[in-house]
Amino acid sequence: MSEISRGLENVFIKATSLTYIDGEKGILRYGGYNIEDLVRNCSFEEVIHLMLYGDLPNSEQLKKVKERINESYNVPPPVIRIMEELPHDADAIAMMETAFSALASYYNYPWKKGENKERALEIIAKASTIVANVYRLKEGQKPEIPEPSESYAKSFLRATFSREPSEEEVDAMNAALILYTDHEVPASTTAALVTSSTLSDMYSCIVSALAALKGPLHGGAAEAAFSQFLEIKDPSNVEEWFNENVIKEKKRLMGFGHRVYKTYDPRAKLFKRYAEELARTPESKKILDIAERLEDIGIKNFGEKKIYPNTDFYSGIVFYSIGFPVYMFTSLFALSRVLGWLAHIIEYVEDQHRLIRPRALYVGPIKRDFIPLSSRN
Ligand code: CMC
Repeated sequence: MSEISRGLENVFIKATSLTYIDGEKGILRYGGYNIEDLVRNCSFEEVIHLMLYGDLPNSEQLKKVKERINESYNVPPPVIRIMEELPHDADAIAMMETAFSALASYYNYPWKKGENKERALEIIAKASTIVANVYRLKEGQKPEIPEPSESYAKSFLRATFSREPSEEEVDAMNAALILYTDHEVPASTTAALVTSSTLSDMYSCIVSALAALKGPLHGGAAEAAFSQFLEIKDPSNVEEWFNENVIKEKKRLMGFGHRVYKTYDPRAKLFKRYAEELARTPESKKILDIAERLEDIGIKNFGEKKIYPNTDFYSGIVFYSIGFPVYMFTSLFALSRVLGWLAHIIEYVEDQHRLIRPRALYVGPIKRDFIPLSSRN
């Protein structure tokens, strides 16, 4: 008798040298490097090299990565025009899906070892252009193409907000990009892998991944978690809100729980630290206070079931403190995760390729006699 693993729990679909997770101990490493070391010491571009080429770059290699990205920010003008046609209140990820679908019409490259990684660098640059313009168009501003600067994070923030970001904002954006880079094979990466296994093009793989990321159980959780804080309004309401919504109404506490982590998500710890450093205005301090109280009460209630804050619990406060509205949070997650998706599909297609085609266990009637329409009740 075949067995179904509900939600594909503990099913291994590929081998990887990209990301190591110890869910019991709360350890996350990219290519063997601890996430905290990378966040504290690296630029996102160094992590791009690590994920695509297997190691941190030397100066010459880093220069090449930056050059390739810097010359690839442009997208065909009709892609931006298509985005401009979308309603201002369109979902940010839906806009990204549309833009990446449009890009697939221009860049339908076949898979080719030796060229795939170059393609990936181009896509990472174009993702910055797309996400910056999701914000700009939703805010009624004219489109902008990121321009080369000291870093990917800085170019992105500059293009998005048409202003010089502070060093602190660039640092926080760089950290967020690294923290969200990869997480082995969650739903979105699995979706990208399934699509890549048919040898579909890279841009279409990103569209698949975006569609899976959008939901509130995955990438949409950062917006959902932050919306809870806004709904609670004041730190003094946390306990009452929790009892009413989570205990009585059995709603899920968003930004809590994880399929793999059975302890505190190491990314949540780092995002929390950045949130504490960045929350300066009375409004963001209040939101942080609400979040910290909600975390305490959540751990008190769910800690025994090994349900702890995940990466999406505090990331929203970091994005909000940089100046992003809530509707951008999932697309910021996506901006960073594009790298993880690409690294995984390249690893899969180049080294382990086989069509992903699972089975469903048939449980319906085995055989029925056909009844013509006129004789059916
Ligand atoms: N609040 C309340 N109860 C929870 C939560 C939560 N956040 N998460 C899990 N549970 C309970 C769930 O009700 C179930 O209880 P019982 O066994 O009594 O029915 C038990 O834990 C197992 O739940 P599950 O849905 O089978 O567990 P899973 O491994 O499929 O869930 C999860 C993983 C992330 C979908 C879930 O924890 C969840 O819904 N969390 C809230 C949404 C969220 O924050 N998602 C972000 C995930 S991490 C980053 C990312 O992927 O973007």
